[in-house]
Amino acid sequence: MQPRSALLNVMTAAAQKAARGLIRDFGETENLQVSKKGPADFVSNADKKAEKTLVYELSKARPNFGFLLEEGDEIIGSDTSNRWIIDPLDGTTNFLHGLPHFSISIALERDGIPFAGVVYEPVTDQMFAAENGIGAYLNNRRLRVSARTKFEESLFATGIPFAGRDGHDRFLAQLKSVMGVSAGVRRFGSAALDLANVAAGRFEGFWEIGLQPWDIAAGIVLVREAGGFVTDIGGGNAMMESGDIIAANSNLHGLLQKTLSAAKD
Ligand code: IPD
Ligand code: CA
Ligand code: CA
Repeated sequence: MQPRSALLNVMTAAAQKAARGLIRDFGETENLQVSKKGPADFVSNADKKAEKTLVYELSKARPNFGFLLEEGDEIIGSDTSNRWIIDPLDGTTNFLHGLPHFSISIALERDGIPFAGVVYEPVTDQMFAAENGIGAYLNNRRLRVSARTKFEESLFATGIPFAGRDGHDRFLAQLKSVMGVSAGVRRFGSAALDLANVAAGRFEGFWEIGLQPWDIAAGIVLVREAGGFVTDIGGGNAMMESGDIIAANSNLHGLLQKTLSAAKD
């Protein structure tokens, strides 16, 4: 992609470097599918390696910035305004099962607010990138959220809680409230890519509960810069703290938020 800013250039280059290793390891994981033990240990190594590459590349370019990492401990930078928030492999379950839908998510948080975001899908070579005030892009194309206005014609993405996660009944109530009045609900397995696909106008909206900052920080910038709205389930701004998120085009966000917040188990 054409660099839109020095910052996005640094972020996309780091994502591409880390993706090379992930693609190699993904090929290996596919081969391991038939083994009895399965590729779980191998995959937990793949994301650690990708994270190391990202930390190395980003530190080289911006030596003073800190890091909030999914796999490693937080690194406090001497520049206290700027912190990278990284998920080196979003969509681990897909990766583990040989399904080619996973991403690398890199956000830059500035003074506590997501400022720039890159979500890269290595297998399809889709580089989503956005920075405050600069816009959201997919490779060289400027992104806009979908213009649909009718709920019944709208496609939504979500994440389904699984073993070890809370909120199963709450999620089922939410799903029930959306599935009956929409064109469909999808569960693809990478929250970062779900948000990127809202920014690209492919889904009218996305919601999930129980996420972590590294799942959503980059995607928040993408959706906002593509003209969409992002809030928590209550309609507030505490997505990163609560892990609950609703992202949608500006026409449908209000109705989706009301529908989801009214859904109680
Ligand atoms: C997961 C993915 C998934 C979401 C889960 C996340 P991981 O991240 O984003 O779509 O439903 O809640 O934990 O574990 O693959 O990095
Ligand atoms: Ca994740
Ligand atoms: Ca991950």
